[in-house]
Amino acid sequence: MKIKKVVVIGSGTMGSGIAAHLCNANIPVTLLDLKTEISEQARDRIYKSRPPLLLDKSKIDNIKVGNISDDFDAVKEADWVVEAVVERIDIKHNIYEKIFKERKKGAIVSSNTSSIPIKVLSQNLTEEEKKDFCITHFFNPVRYMGLLEIVKNENNDLEKINSLKLFCEVELGKGAIICNDTPGFLGNRVGVYAMQIAMTEAFKMNLSIEEADAIFGRPMGIPKTGIFGLYDLIGIDLMADVLKSFIKELPKTDEFHEVAKEIPLVKKLIESGYTGRKGKGGFYRINKTDDKKTMEALNLKTGKYFVAKKININSEKVNLKALINREDKYGEYAWSVISKIIKYASSLVPEITKEFNDIDEAMRLGFNWSKGPFEMLEEIGVVNFFNKINDYTGNKFLENLAKSKNEKFYGVRQKYTDIETLGKIKKTASSVDGNNSAQIYRFDDYNIVEFTTKANVLDYDSMDALKKATDKPLIIINESMQFSAGVNLSYTMDFVNIGDFKSIEKFIRYFQETCKHLKYSDHPVISAPSGLTLGGGFEVMVQSNFVASHTNIVVGLVETIVGLIPAGGGCKEMLARWLETEEAKKDPHYAPLKVFDIIGYGKTATSPTEAEPLKYLKPEDKKIMNRNSLLEVSKKILEDNKDFKAPLETKFNLPGKPAKEEMIKVLEKLYNDKIILDHGMEVGKELAHVLSGGDTTIDKTLLEEDVFKLELDSFMKLIETKKTQERIKHTLSTGKPLIN
Ligand code: NAI
Repeated sequence: MKIKKVVVIGSGTMGSGIAAHLCNANIPVTLLDLKTEISEQARDRIYKSRPPLLLDKSKIDNIKVGNISDDFDAVKEADWVVEAVVERIDIKHNIYEKIFKERKKGAIVSSNTSSIPIKVLSQNLTEEEKKDFCITHFFNPVRYMGLLEIVKNENNDLEKINSLKLFCEVELGKGAIICNDTPGFLGNRVGVYAMQIAMTEAFKMNLSIEEADAIFGRPMGIPKTGIFGLYDLIGIDLMADVLKSFIKELPKTDEFHEVAKEIPLVKKLIESGYTGRKGKGGFYRINKTDDKKTMEALNLKTGKYFVAKKININSEKVNLKALINREDKYGEYAWSVISKIIKYASSLVPEITKEFNDIDEAMRLGFNWSKGPFEMLEEIGVVNFFNKINDYTGNKFLENLAKSKNEKFYGVRQKYTDIETLGKIKKTASSVDGNNSAQIYRFDDYNIVEFTTKANVLDYDSMDALKKATDKPLIIINESMQFSAGVNLSYTMDFVNIGDFKSIEKFIRYFQETCKHLKYSDHPVISAPSGLTLGGGFEVMVQSNFVASHTNIVVGLVETIVGLIPAGGGCKEMLARWLETEEAKKDPHYAPLKVFDIIGYGKTATSPTEAEPLKYLKPEDKKIMNRNSLLEVSKKILEDNKDFKAPLETKFNLPGKPAKEEMIKVLEKLYNDKIILDHGMEVGKELAHVLSGGDTTIDKTLLEEDVFKLELDSFMKLIETKKTQERIKHTLSTGKPLIN
């Protein structure tokens, strides 16, 4: 079965997301709704979406739009028809009747329902029709969320389901997990329960919403939005609907009912329009007075807003054992929440799936948790867990585990896929070493470095691990969301605060030395980025010999935004790339000016298609839809390059003063137009100095070391300015740029 054409019916949030993602996979798709205007508006929304749903906006015409009365003929040609209309069974049944009348023989028909059982959806279908019908439950936003739950019915043609799964894995890049026909399937059943338990325990234990979010967040390996932040993001009203549907579907004996009871404060919020970020606010809100924006948080007892407090629990790294053993309310809350999630999730095996492992993976792919409940249990330790837990009678999984006391019960990761993933292979490393910022996994014929800091920011230790790992071919790859958000600015500011600029200089030199070593070591180095690949993270990638990039990346050099310039080889490598162009061969000013424009504006690309024209990625770099495949593709690169030889050192002929003067003219115009201010001018001049080659002339050849030195000198000048320090502090505390 080949899927070459798809029709998506229903062009709301999910239908448009699915259509956009099919377009990303170069599959022509027709998006139908009640009226053509609705699907037209959907296409417009796709085009303008931020973060973008499309990898390449110019492909938007691959999405045709229409309505279900005049344009239904499209169904006749489709190999797959995806139904994504409102969650109403009568409407869905009507649509299926229409589809099955028209569809091509053997074409797959699937529903994106989040809560209606397949038994109910398919009740009016013939046995023959049921063969080709299943649920394909995508998550929002479709391009970015890894999880796809596929639900079969007992009549399915299994070969077809497997080929659909393979298509969704390879072409759409999804982690496709086949699960049983139970309410909320895997992700939402456990994820929504987890959200509810985190919320209700916070109420019970008198934690403020900021406190609960500080625990049920990064320290647990859960996104930093926490619980109340996530509620606001999803929409408090939408969550109430989801709960209602669970209450309706689940048997009265299910633990879920305990945590899904209506909370008066939540009801009041919805009734008064405080439905979250899309409404007037929610558990948090931004209060704008006199041009000042203040983040406020709701007091759960009084229902009044106060200025949100920053809670520091002194635990940046995920350490569940330490967290649940803290002798304070935070430890108590963490244990109460984690233990209940583990109890609930394990009570659902084998009912919702026979593979407990799939539940964990659904939590990773669908909720961005770094670990699911069962891996949390293994991390806490089986004996430890049973020493602390009270009652688990009737929970077969826990009863068996309590008997076996098998600390290593977990076994292999990511059983849902045949791909050899990083998650699977890490456990088979012949040795593991590392430091606070990175792990080195050693295998017979290659090494892996995985960064392990928050957003994988880089420091001295990260560089140390990279350097140590080049005794064999090296793959730099990681499981967490970001490849690297750049150099650790807090680490840098710690030195600034005590006036220790020598240590910053030492660090930057070491960064440069390591990146140069990556580029020229005897063994090939491959970077496999996904997510943020910015600043220093970009510099590591661009100085690797090969790149295998996920299609979901945000890549670029953003240093100027905090009043700095790239100093780990970013200026150097961008110059090298642009100097190779035909235009640069004719005009010596072309490359420096082009790079000046790119770095000066801190341009970022949100996909390989956007990255290539900026030369952040090269045409020969591999671009991969399925993040799970990054390792296999990287290993294939190693195999294809057994006779690898380090490249010859790059040399630079740069124009010096005349190019710098041209750049300064550009800056003066921006300054006069008030696009940049005094400090922007200063940063721009340093960048101009580096990119023009400093005090050089076009006939002089500069070596990499010379360009590194220019980068370092300018970087040090800038970091010593109060204005740059102010900008960094502002960005660290608010996450936003400061213009000065
Ligand atoms: P939505 O309300 O954004 O869009 C539904 C679309 O269906 C609307 O454009 C509406 O005009 C159209 N529609 C209604 N009746 C129709 C008909 N007879 N023929 C053609 N189009 C019709 O809904 P959303 O959120 O996109 O949900 C769609 C499906 O996906 C639902 O089954 C929902 O449960 C499921 N889902 C939703 C998720 C979410 O985060 N919103 C996540 C996963 C699944």
